[in-house]
Amino acid sequence: MSTTTPATIDVEEVLAALTLEEKAALLDGSDFWNTTPIDRLGVPAVMVTDGPHGLRKQSGAADHVGLNDSVPATCFPPAAGLVSSWDPQLLHRVGAALGDECRAERVAVLLGPGVNMKRSPLNGRNFEYFSEDPLLAGALAAGLVQGVQSRGVGTSLKHFAANNQETDRMTVSAEVDERTLREVYLPAFERVVTTAQPWTVMCSYNRINGVYASEDPWLLTDVLRGDWGYEGLVVSDWGATNVREAGVAAGMDLEMPSSSGAGTRRILDAVREGRLSEADVDRAARRVLELVAKAQPALTEPAEPFDVDAHHALAREAATAAAVLLKNEDAILPLAPTGGRVAVIGEFARTPRYQGAGSSQVNPTRLDAALDALTAALPDREVVFAPAFAIEAEEADPELVAEAVAAATSAEVVLLFLGLPASYESEGYDRAHMDLPAQQVALVEAIADANPDVVVVLSNGSVVTLDPWRDRVKGLLEAWLGGQAGGAAIADLLTGAAEPSGRLGETIPVHHEDNPTVGNFPGERGVVRYGEGLLIGYRWYDAHRLPVAYPFGHGLGYTTFAHEDLAVTVEADGAAPRVVVETTVRNSGPRAGTETVQVYVADPAATVFRPEQELRGFARTVLEPGATARVRIELDARAFAYWDVSRGRFVVEGGAFEIRVGASSRDIRATALIELSGEDLLPPLAPDSTVQAWLDHPRAAGWIRDRIADHPFGGMLFDPTHGEMMRAIPLVRIARFPGSPISESDIDDAVARFGA
Ligand code: BGC
Repeated sequence: MSTTTPATIDVEEVLAALTLEEKAALLDGSDFWNTTPIDRLGVPAVMVTDGPHGLRKQSGAADHVGLNDSVPATCFPPAAGLVSSWDPQLLHRVGAALGDECRAERVAVLLGPGVNMKRSPLNGRNFEYFSEDPLLAGALAAGLVQGVQSRGVGTSLKHFAANNQETDRMTVSAEVDERTLREVYLPAFERVVTTAQPWTVMCSYNRINGVYASEDPWLLTDVLRGDWGYEGLVVSDWGATNVREAGVAAGMDLEMPSSSGAGTRRILDAVREGRLSEADVDRAARRVLELVAKAQPALTEPAEPFDVDAHHALAREAATAAAVLLKNEDAILPLAPTGGRVAVIGEFARTPRYQGAGSSQVNPTRLDAALDALTAALPDREVVFAPAFAIEAEEADPELVAEAVAAATSAEVVLLFLGLPASYESEGYDRAHMDLPAQQVALVEAIADANPDVVVVLSNGSVVTLDPWRDRVKGLLEAWLGGQAGGAAIADLLTGAAEPSGRLGETIPVHHEDNPTVGNFPGERGVVRYGEGLLIGYRWYDAHRLPVAYPFGHGLGYTTFAHEDLAVTVEADGAAPRVVVETTVRNSGPRAGTETVQVYVADPAATVFRPEQELRGFARTVLEPGATARVRIELDARAFAYWDVSRGRFVVEGGAFEIRVGASSRDIRATALIELSGEDLLPPLAPDSTVQAWLDHPRAAGWIRDRIADHPFGGMLFDPTHGEMMRAIPLVRIARFPGSPISESDIDDAVARFGA
């Protein structure tokens, strides 16, 4: 017998040697964060841990809601910030760093990223999610997953699916029609699965159209594996399991945390009573073993400590890319290195709000405050500070306000740090409204009265109302939750040491009441109805021609860009078109900078309802002043397709499509019209198809004309006043009219000839 432990287990060999009891035990965790080992066969336990933007490995008392401490780890910006980079390569690098931290701590799987859609700004967990747009969310999350997994560590794509609120998150039923699921709520998951194969997918707590995600064979097997080709393991969200045996049959492989044997007993009883097949247990056990085997190489190598300084520097770079410069009137930014006094006002400058509460809460290796970083970055300017408010206080403190107003009055420029208190947004509950605390809004007015040169810096995990006070300030930097180096990144951006390059991944509406979910969020009596259907985020604001504070895709820098010479080429036509979009970007301003070219597709002639335009591609380019770059973006069939409910698949309908290229969803710089042939999508004819449908059908049109349209009886079909009404009558009912020239059996014959 060999004395050396093999690097990885042989999955099939182990599976064949396992007893039914051992297989069932493998499908349950052994504690809060570890899988169950099978010592007799050399199967180790592997550790999984939150996630997503830093490691939260608990060495002491365990919980999954952020209560107990964890080992120090780099806190990168949460997804709400990372998304504004529109940069999958950056996410790949952040992912690789996270993977290295996992390796150092012997963690096999990082529990993230979360790609749920930002349906309402009030979702308390929006800070952990990317976008209101599925393409952007999916592309960036895929970068992160590839980065982590390039280090031999797994990820957990979560929370699958339709978990778009925290109110009643454990039980609420999201009532969503299938087309909306397929076009809005599932594609980010689909993209990550098909392009990055995350080692695990975490099912969500909620129900979808009445069925718990943890027990939904349609979701976990038909869609995830059948349609998308998923090869990894499905794990429950922590405590998402109800009827364990139903979960195993549906494709929910691993229950976490440990159910202390309850799940195992149910599985064994169900197999013994013939309610669950042993093959289903084998399938899930194989997936757990495959996960262990994938994790083993990294776990058996000596643990290398990670480079704390390098990761902090990367967190700073990421936070810089995450911030979005929303407004910069009179070029108030960047701050000059010399000049009059700078008043830094607001407690957030000294006490950063840099991450959200709950299971993703990281114990950072260090923490940069913007106040310190600004003071250091402006050695030749006097920097004074006034806290102005206590972050969690609802009532203004008159003394603190008076001190802040005095500081503003005596300064040349004011940097005003505002944001959401931690208690406003967290895992586990939703926000009550979209506003900043009232005392902060009153503060902006007081400071703007004292000094016309005000720049507001915001720290929040999801959008806040900016109107009407944004008109009173000259500069506005949305810094999101910037992670542990967010403070230094803010100083880099305000002073121009770094160029603002972030673009909004979510629309900032003027009022919360403009949002599509009003009336349908967070639902009632256990049900939330996705009544707005496809019209999430900008899709809604565009459809309703609503003004917004800042549109999806918006973001300024300290330079300007021109977009020139748009060329759109149809490289392949038919059912699977391929279209290439090329445009030249020229840095027309004074500084080096980054432009993000965004491609939106509109389908004005569709026979089904379609959003006004949808993001279908994007690319970043970094340019020196005066420099140009030819940017190329490829669009595949999905850029033009919709989910056809009757066929149960995506289809490309032929016709004209408009390609819109620009710098934001409402800053389109050039458009081009293309014609695609699409696929043959003749609607099937039936006896109750309308006369119009028969007339529109290329093969049946001649027949229907001969039989009734050109018959004296049919005269009224084209009468200018009544024709439209008549043509809307199902053909079979025409057959019943007195004197009708066709019979029901004629129609049955015609259906047989032309119907399909
Ligand atoms: C959260 C997950 C998290 C898990 C483990 C759950 O409450 O919804 O996102 O990964 O706990 O902490």
